[in-house]
Amino acid sequence: MKKVSSFSKLSKYDKISWLAKNFLYESPVEVLQNFAGYWYDNIEAQKQFEGFSENTLTNFHLPFGVAPNFLINGKDYCVPMVTEESSVVAALSNAAKFWMERGGIKTKVIDNRKVGQVHFFFYGNNEKIKTYFDKNKASLLANTKELTANMEKRGGGILSMQLLDLTHLEANYYQLKLEFNTCDSMGANFINSILEKVGKDWADSIENSDFFEKEERQIEINMCILSNYTPDCLVEATVSCKIEDLGIVNGYAPNQFAQKFTRAIRIAEVDTYRATTHNKGILNGIDSVVIATGNDFRAVESCIHTYASKDGHYKSLSHAWIEDNTFHFTLKFPIALGTVGGLTKLHPLAKISLQMLGNPNSEELMQIVAAVGLMQNYAAVKSLVTTGIQVGHMKMHLSNILAELKATVEEAKEVETYFKDKVISVSEVKNYIEKLRNSLLPNTSINVQ
Ligand code: MEV
Repeated sequence: MKKVSSFSKLSKYDKISWLAKNFLYESPVEVLQNFAGYWYDNIEAQKQFEGFSENTLTNFHLPFGVAPNFLINGKDYCVPMVTEESSVVAALSNAAKFWMERGGIKTKVIDNRKVGQVHFFFYGNNEKIKTYFDKNKASLLANTKELTANMEKRGGGILSMQLLDLTHLEANYYQLKLEFNTCDSMGANFINSILEKVGKDWADSIENSDFFEKEERQIEINMCILSNYTPDCLVEATVSCKIEDLGIVNGYAPNQFAQKFTRAIRIAEVDTYRATTHNKGILNGIDSVVIATGNDFRAVESCIHTYASKDGHYKSLSHAWIEDNTFHFTLKFPIALGTVGGLTKLHPLAKISLQMLGNPNSEELMQIVAAVGLMQNYAAVKSLVTTGIQVGHMKMHLSNILAELKATVEEAKEVETYFKDKVISVSEVKNYIEKLRNSLLPNTSINVQ
């Protein structure tokens, strides 16, 4: 067993040495050199990054790019994108430009409420606890004032608190369910601090109350935690245009394209297998902006997938239809984002991302992200119902293949020209480069790894 104690207290070099010896089986100096290649030259910047997490040894880089040509509610945006997937940004930019030329994207925030829960078990009379809650709700809320004062100054705070009797789901199980407005912060710390205070006060109050019989007074506070499911923190993005204004799309007449497109969306509404991939495409865009702006993409993902299942089966988040000779395409989903707090200002690139978006508040950022999700989905479905995605994907993927095969600039040019109208695969490219190298250098045999 390779058990290690107090690992976090070791120096960075000692951590690397331990790893090198126990799991990489390389010399610590080599591993250190390798990791150090990805450190910032600026020692302070490196220290800051290491502080974002624990046991940090190096940085893991992802491409940071931009998707220009977004027109959202009449305002221009250039959207920051962090993604490792080729063709996501290019496809998104194309779709954004296409819709920019057709009036742009309309977005709106439907609501901005976050949710937190105190989960507890009570073994007494359920009518009594309801009465007790009604009597004590105001004082529970008043006791949070110290924690909510700053948020209230900014226009936020606790919006509601209710007692839920969930004993039909689990014996003796109840909840205090709270809703919050956390203004421009994602609000996790704010919400969790309040919940822990409310939970403790609630348990203390019941324990010390002679309203209950002695045996009813011991409630179990099981946990106090925000919910990442925020169905009332909802945003919507829409595009529409006359069918003929779609023009010829990848060789398809406007009407034919609109029909195929709306049918593809319908499939994602009724078939869970397709819906999962369909929504993954939407999240290609959403996650990229969420990461670029220093937000929590795991929270965003779990919330969106739960919402996609809200009607009893997992389905498409987007919808498309044709009405009065007009093509409509819309996307609605819940998302909790912050533009202050967390990494949003600490991470230098998140800060630049927000700056290039004009330092939006959280509601504006929700709308930008919704517009990106819609455009990413448009781009994917457009390709799927016309050319298929492999043409574009493999073209983009070609640069990764070339890098992997260590192609020179000249070889890359030759390969790109040759594969312009051909199906691209790793083995085909590998074969072609091998031939190229053998013919350019007839007396040498270069092995393509
Ligand atoms: C690939 O990352 C995303 C797509 O599969 C999305 C979709 O199928 O709609 C192209």
